[in-house]
Amino acid sequence: MLVAIDGPAGAGKSTVARAVARELHFTYLASGAMYRCVALLSLAMPASEPAALARAARIELGERVLLDGRDVTEEIRTPEASEAASRVAADPGVREALVAKQRELIAGGDWVAEGRDIGTVVAPDAELKVFLTANPEERARRRAVELGADSATVLAEQALRDERDTTRSHSPLQAAPGAVVLDTTGMGVEQVVARIASLARDRAG
Ligand code: CDP
Repeated sequence: MLVAIDGPAGAGKSTVARAVARELHFTYLASGAMYRCVALLSLAMPASEPAALARAARIELGERVLLDGRDVTEEIRTPEASEAASRVAADPGVREALVAKQRELIAGGDWVAEGRDIGTVVAPDAELKVFLTANPEERARRRAVELGADSATVLAEQALRDERDTTRSHSPLQAAPGAVVLDTTGMGVEQVVARIASLARDRAG
């Protein structure tokens, strides 16, 4: 079974998806970490074609994120990596390479996969699709707490990334047909997790 959770930055996808996976005993896939890895490669090798870097990258996702055998768990979370991730993510060749890697992973077993295009592109036939969102101010506030950064700066960076993610011509961020839209503004993590886990149990029949 696959639970697909998509939504904009700071909607709480990773916290929620990880907790839902734990509760259901499914495996968690953070597809964004793959785009972030390609972003690091692209920052280090600006002359190389991002799609070629994406195809060649050996990305291992687990407790730690390994890129070609190197632990990049912290490095992929910097604002610079976030910015570069949304840039390389607009490249159709990068998306094609990473979507193939994601489909290969989720082909076996039970998964909670989280990102921007899981329900629309990677796995449109997922048993449960959730579109997680919250108002921009609340999303920026959550992310600022997480990063120990200033909320106004985060809000500005987030607006740029939202704009790029929703307006790109290839796989723009949008709710998948049939997705349950969950606005988490003012909702606690526990509550969101319980709701998604219950929906998943219903779908599993
Ligand atoms: O945690 P946050 O939502 O800020 O970022 P993320 O999920 O790690 O994704 C980082 C960037 O990768 C996003 O801004 C998107 O541009 C891109 N991304 C994507 O295009 N498709 C995905 N399935 C996941 C991430």
